Amino acid sequence: MTTHNIAVIGGDGTGPEVTREAIKVCEAAASKFGFKLNWHHYDFGGDRYLKTGEVLPDSAVEEFRKYKAIYLGAVGHPQVKPGILEKGILLRLRFELEQYINLRPVRLYRAADCPLKDKGPEHVDFVVVRENNEGLYAGAGGNLFKGTPNEVAVQESINTRRGVDRCLKYAFEVAKKRRHGKPWKGLKPEDVSVGKASQLTLCGKTNVLTYAFDLWWRGFQEMAPGFPTVKTDYAHVDAICMWFVKNPEWFDVIVTDNMFGDIITDLAAIVQGGLGVAAGGNLNPEGTSMFEPMGGSAPKYTGQNVINPLAAINAGGMMLDFLGETKAGAAIEEAVIKIINTKIQSLAAGKMGHSTTEVGDLVAAAL
Ligand code: IPM
Ligand code: MN
Repeated sequence: MTTHNIAVIGGDGTGPEVTREAIKVCEAAASKFGFKLNWHHYDFGGDRYLKTGEVLPDSAVEEFRKYKAIYLGAVGHPQVKPGILEKGILLRLRFELEQYINLRPVRLYRAADCPLKDKGPEHVDFVVVRENNEGLYAGAGGNLFKGTPNEVAVQESINTRRGVDRCLKYAFEVAKKRRHGKPWKGLKPEDVSVGKASQLTLCGKTNVLTYAFDLWWRGFQEMAPGFPTVKTDYAHVDAICMWFVKNPEWFDVIVTDNMFGDIITDLAAIVQGGLGVAAGGNLNPEGTSMFEPMGGSAPKYTGQNVINPLAAINAGGMMLDFLGETKAGAAIEEAVIKIINTKIQSLAAGKMGHSTTEVGDLVAAAL
């Protein structure tokens, strides 16, 4: 029997609660599809930091390299200054483990959860491939004369040919496996000729950021001929924000840099029904990847058993898919859709009509 070892960081606030439900559902999928999951728990997060002053020791980063997957609940603690845990845990793992892709599938499961009038599941089904190691997040820059009237602050966007190309390549490959408007999971490349072509949209700002997005644009143009079944398209980031709302059905796969990806995936999360269902993967296809629900630690709901665990469960499904358990991944998503359509009143915390634990039980049972 295949065994997968997974490192788990439940993290802060409601992170551990939703992680528990994700593990429950992954375990149900494992018994159904015949594989084994070993979960190794790590207590990194705000509480540990406040007690010991330690955010993430170097030895832990080295230990994580032994895993193919890390499951992360959430980081962010009301008593810890913003940035310490985010940079010290989440961004550090993304960077040091070279999780250069942030993959965000965006699917609307039920029309009622979409804030956009007249849009249903057939209109909202796309994937954002966000560059996850460079851009404005690289931390390049500095300041001069801090705190004086002459203060200067510079924050630069770093875009390397290698970083841009590997992200574009990943995005083209995701697009190649998808048929426009259809879930890509389980589709073989030969299926792509059936129905509409796949489409990859580069999201940038070529009219203003003429250095960074010139590099992205050239990389995109040069790679396109190698993927003849993928139709290419370009949109400025500001326009994409309008079109996600007006015509989400235009999109199939979108590739973009780190900062724009951060912004447009929050917008996309709302279009798909909110943080209650939105999940993402930080991928290093050759190393250690990390899966997480999009939402934060939601400290005000901690311990109340009211937070929506579906995003965390979806992150678990993505993780199993990535580990090669494609049937289990697809089954978890189908079970989530079924439960949303039959049992869940609203995706908002406290309004589901069920507790966190009950929603986990319902999805596990639906498997
Ligand atoms: C995300 C988050 C992070 C980011 C924060 C918590 C640093 O917003 O995963 O999108 O900006 O990347
Ligand atoms: Mn974000």
